[in-house]
Amino acid sequence: MIVKANAGVLGTGHYVPERVVTNADLEKMVDTSDEWIQERTGIRERHFAPDGVNTSDMCTIAAKQALDMAGLSPEELDMIIVCTLTPDMTIPSTACIVQKNIGAKNAAVFDLYAACSGFAYGAITATQYIQSGMCKNVLVIGAEILSRYMDFTDRNTCVLFGDGAGAAVFGQVPEGYGVLGADMGADGNGGKYLNIPSSGVAILPTDEARAKHLTYIKMDGKEVYKFAVKVMGRTAEKALTRAGLSHEDIDLLIPHQANIRIIQSAAKRLHLPMDKVFVNIHKYANTSGASIPIAMDEANRQGRMKRDDIVVLAGFGAGLTWAGLVMKWY
Ligand code: UT7
Repeated sequence: MIVKANAGVLGTGHYVPERVVTNADLEKMVDTSDEWIQERTGIRERHFAPDGVNTSDMCTIAAKQALDMAGLSPEELDMIIVCTLTPDMTIPSTACIVQKNIGAKNAAVFDLYAACSGFAYGAITATQYIQSGMCKNVLVIGAEILSRYMDFTDRNTCVLFGDGAGAAVFGQVPEGYGVLGADMGADGNGGKYLNIPSSGVAILPTDEARAKHLTYIKMDGKEVYKFAVKVMGRTAEKALTRAGLSHEDIDLLIPHQANIRIIQSAAKRLHLPMDKVFVNIHKYANTSGASIPIAMDEANRQGRMKRDDIVVLAGFGAGLTWAGLVMKWY
């Protein structure tokens, strides 16, 4: 029987690899300084996954935590969405590997590809399946091993990213709770500002491509910065309007953690004091699709969200893409 319901978060989890790489460690590799990195980005350290650990391994740990908190068995999942730009391989999808690892034999699974906006896109997608009644419980995971795509000769990018995974189980919540409004969008014209040229079929990762550093993240930081300060607050505002709410209603903003200055500018646009904004960029750097769910799990475990709180997720990323989500916490 199809039961239409509101969709909310039932449980969260996260995992970051043990190895911590500090700004001082990077000073030994490229011409940079702890002072520059902290001042321009807010980052102090990040975690890197060791060889042999793959995105699906981190997803699996975060997923088990989220299921545990939700009080659900893996068999109760109807769907798994893994949001990543660093899958273990193109086929099978990372979601298939996670399904096998956790034994979620009743779940339909797929990877979703929206870079740093991935988790917010995934959460909105999960919401549609639950609201339509097609699914009861959907596991959404954001996970990345970006360290394998970082050019440690390029100081413009190699100081910015880190590895990790975050997960949330979305399920049915009572009327008036859960996801109340959302916004998502993209501007493909901005694809040139942030990409990994040799990461698909257009330029295969040959020795020549490697020699030209085409297998690494390339970014025009200034262009991405301008885009980010424009869209992060705007997507949150649009999602709030669709929920029939305004910035005054926000109890906690959980933004994509790319740069503390971008986060501060979104907070300013939303008239929010920083104590209503969750920040953990200093510990993890930019973990792309994992950044929002890692932050959401930390905020959740720290008791930063209480029943009836209005929680806003807002992300932007390569594509270019953006997405915002407003939830009444249950
Ligand atoms: O999830 C989405 C992914 N990306 C982002 O969100 C990134 C968005 N962009 C940014 O966060 C910022 O643009 C950056 C952090 C990447 C750069 O900050 P900025 O304040 O825009 O610096 P800049 O690019 O204007 O560079 C200023 C100077 C330059 O030197 P000159 O030309 O003024 O002599 C850079 O070469 O800082 C230099 N620089 C560095 N210096 C020390 C760039 N990277 C570094 C570095 N260490 N790591």
